Amino acid sequence: MGRPIVREGSGISLGILERSDIPQLYAEFNTPDVRRYLTGRERAVSLEAAYQMYDSAQKDTSTMTYAVAVNALRGKGSSDLAGTVALNHIDWANRRAEVAYILFRKYWGKGYGTEALSLAVMQAFWTLNLRKLTATVCRPNRPSVKVLEKNGFRKAVTFTNHVYVEHEGYVDEFIYELFRQE
Ligand SMILES: CC(C)(COP(=O)(O)OP(=O)(O)OC[C@H]1O[C@@H](n2cnc3c(N)ncnc32)[C@H](O)[C@@H]1OP(=O)(O)O)[C@@H](O)C(=O)NCCC(=O)NCCS
Repeated sequence: MGRPIVREGSGISLGILERSDIPQLYAEFNTPDVRRYLTGRERAVSLEAAYQMYDSAQKDTSTMTYAVAVNALRGKGSSDLAGTVALNHIDWANRRAEVAYILFRKYWGKGYGTEALSLAVMQAFWTLNLRKLTATVCRPNRPSVKVLEKNGFRKAVTFTNHVYVEHEGYVDEFIYELFRQE
């Protein structure tokens, strides 16, 4: 059975993240390239901890993580998984959330990050009825800044010399925001 899709895109779609996806996520996300600019990168995560995080997220109404599925690979027998996009810290009273996205290294530079965020924005605004999204990104993560700005996010906050990145030292961190257009 193929992965159930919650929002269809042209190159990728957002689908249900299954427990059986965890070993692949664990292997593909635990590389220096992918983790370079992620918050919490200093903490090594075991496979067992990755399963525990998945299980606790299933019961947590303040977080929703979607699989980024490559359309051309769907239903072909091999894995269609290219990464995840998550809505975290969902605040249902104030109708806002934080969005975060991670793709496997081999899928970078194909427009999938931009489309994954665009689909997550639509899901947040038009399915979950949220009205505002924020995203945290550090200055040297230029692909991520580009993905945010191409989706209409505006820089709202700058923290100077806020996070430490190996070989780069302390770098600025930004909070971007996007409001639903009514
Ligand atoms: C951030 C990430 C999701 C981007 O995904 P992606 O599929 O490669 O992004 P896209 O292909 O949609 O677009 C990337 C854009 O950044 C640009 N870009 C790539 N490298 C760049 C660089 N070094 N400097 C400036 N721009 C760069 C690309 O040209 C592209 O812009 P364009 O479409 O105008 O040409 C991916 O790099 C990733 O998973 N990184 C690791 C996890 C991470 O950092 N997540 C974000 C945490 S805030």
